[in-house]
Amino acid sequence: MSASARPNAEHVPLIARDVEATRALGAALGRSAEPGDVVCLFGELGAGKTQLAKGIAAGLGVTDTVASPSFVLMAEYEGRLPLFHIDLYRLADAGDALAGGLIDDRQASGVTVIEWAERLGAWLPAARLDIRIEGNGDAPRRLVLHPTDARHERLAAAVGL
Ligand SMILES: Nc1ncnc2c1ncn2[C@@H]1O[C@H](COP(=O)(O)OP(=O)(O)OP(=O)(O)O)[C@@H](O)[C@H]1O
Ligand SMILES: [Mg+2]
Repeated sequence: MSASARPNAEHVPLIARDVEATRALGAALGRSAEPGDVVCLFGELGAGKTQLAKGIAAGLGVTDTVASPSFVLMAEYEGRLPLFHIDLYRLADAGDALAGGLIDDRQASGVTVIEWAERLGAWLPAARLDIRIEGNGDAPRRLVLHPTDARHERLAAAVGL
């Protein structure tokens, strides 16, 4: 547990029985998100990170189709707040992203969702909501939420913390 974590907000598990349930959880987050919120998604290939990101986008009122950016590390979408969708799967070294200005001041005005956030290592933003997705295939997913500060505790509360 990091020093800034709140002990009573640790490791709250949610079950998403199907992809619609994962999207609905994301949509609840998107509806409650405030400027500057950062959601970091962890989980193996096919865990459902992009599906959750699609739900967050829907909750933010994004009407464009959110897909995993293939040739760019970050895609920006227009919604109630701007959505910055970052996918670091192809990133060899977090330093590359920072050198390219991936994480920058603009994101304070919107909501940032980061897939494969562990690739940022020590560069992970300190204030964030971590969501670990466990499970694959057609199995139900277990989502473990870990807010690192009060503002993201508020966001986690949107899905029943
Ligand atoms: N409960 C569930 N929640 C989310 N996805 C589910 C669930 N059940 C089945 N799936 C399926 O699992 C797949 C999840 O794919 P998704 O692209 O979201 O994974 P990902 O974690 O983003 O993978 P990658 O690391 O490759 O980006 C989808 O095909 C989805 O239909
Ligand atoms: Mg993905």
